[in-house]
Amino acid sequence: MKVLVIGSGGREHALCWKLAQSREIEELYCAPGNGGTSLVATNVPIQSNDLERLLEFSKTLEIDLVVVGPEEPLVLGITDMFEEEGISVFGPDAFSARLEGSKDFAKDFMVRHNIPTAKYKTFTEYNKAIEGLSEFSYPLVIKADGLCLGKGVVICENKEIAQQTLKEVLVDRIFGDEGQRVVIEEFLEGTEASLLCFVSHNRLFPMESAKDYKQIFEDDKGPNTGGVGCYSPSPFFNEEFNRKIRLEVLDRIEEGLEADGHNFTGILFIGFMISQEGPKVLEFNVRFGDPETEVVLPRLESDLLEIFIHSIVGDLKEDHMTWKEEACMTVVLTSGGYPGYYKKGYRIYGLPYPDEDIMVFHNGTKIEGEHFVTNGGRVLSVTCTGEMSHAREKIYQAIEGISFKDMGYRRDIGLFK
Ligand code: AMP
Ligand code: GLY
Repeated sequence: MKVLVIGSGGREHALCWKLAQSREIEELYCAPGNGGTSLVATNVPIQSNDLERLLEFSKTLEIDLVVVGPEEPLVLGITDMFEEEGISVFGPDAFSARLEGSKDFAKDFMVRHNIPTAKYKTFTEYNKAIEGLSEFSYPLVIKADGLCLGKGVVICENKEIAQQTLKEVLVDRIFGDEGQRVVIEEFLEGTEASLLCFVSHNRLFPMESAKDYKQIFEDDKGPNTGGVGCYSPSPFFNEEFNRKIRLEVLDRIEEGLEADGHNFTGILFIGFMISQEGPKVLEFNVRFGDPETEVVLPRLESDLLEIFIHSIVGDLKEDHMTWKEEACMTVVLTSGGYPGYYKKGYRIYGLPYPDEDIMVFHNGTKIEGEHFVTNGGRVLSVTCTGEMSHAREKIYQAIEGISFKDMGYRRDIGLFK
């Protein structure tokens, strides 16, 4: 099969790395890819939101399957557009992609189908939203409705911050049309966990769970990022918890998808807050997570391409997926300044040769001459499978040897505090 992966992060490097091992693969492309994907696939210089050019490329090369990494092309309708031209896409259509593309759409889905989630209300008018604040206690959470490059969620400690945030989103329109609506939501306390599921025509097949570290600094301090460290599995997901999640969340999502007329095939990433009252759904994403993918795929023993094909055909079964018992952990090396302004183009030194344990997935690199240079806020995901404390030790040892100007990373990934 000829496969095109769309995207340019560590997630796409991990996807390409895993797909390259498939029995079925003949040719593998990544658009636009990064320095790391070029080691296992052929990079194609087309941006992930340039659907017209991606389609032209796929037709010319007679691509059999397109695997979409980021949410934007899905929300823009890549699946509908390509399938009309007879090209298979692993990823939901534009209607189902709204589960990520609109917070209001997702919350409405959760509430109507009795999926445990934080109490919320949606507003389009600034004055009404200001009045609505009185229905919540502090801290509360304000979310711009649309895709805002991961910046659309603000946790407001007090009324002044909440009023200011509502003004910025609804009046000043700092997120443009993505902020035409806001969701105001009850703040949930607890520990977060990520559960990615393969979805085949509305049926959910959960992968192994993961725990992502969102804040840039140790002890979960500082601003939120896309995720700067991760491990799998999350310690919460024992047999009993899995049963509870199946009954109270996954079954209800499946029923909801059916009832609302979805035909969802792709990935559903469920972000959980595990609170005193039990697990609640924080958000849906309709794509693989980053860095979750870098810790989940190394634990998958089965052929990923076969899983994608079975999902699309509609005959995916639990026994198509076998998982390694051993854990997997990753630490993300970041550019100084991230998640704010940072510089690119610094040469990367000391990348280890892949060995049995250590793998380095590239989040934001490119090749310049003979060398890799930094090309993003998140640069490299240093990853290791094995028993957790062993994986931790190997990762931090490997990091000692890697350097680039202003490199940063958290030293507390995988410490259960
Ligand atoms: P979201 O994009 O909705 O997942 O929000 C991004 C991040 O904001 C989440 O991963 C949480 O860390 C935090 N967050 C979102 N909603 C809530 C909530 N209701 N209570 C506490 N934290 C939240
Ligand atoms: N790591 C969280 C995400 O991919 O959205």
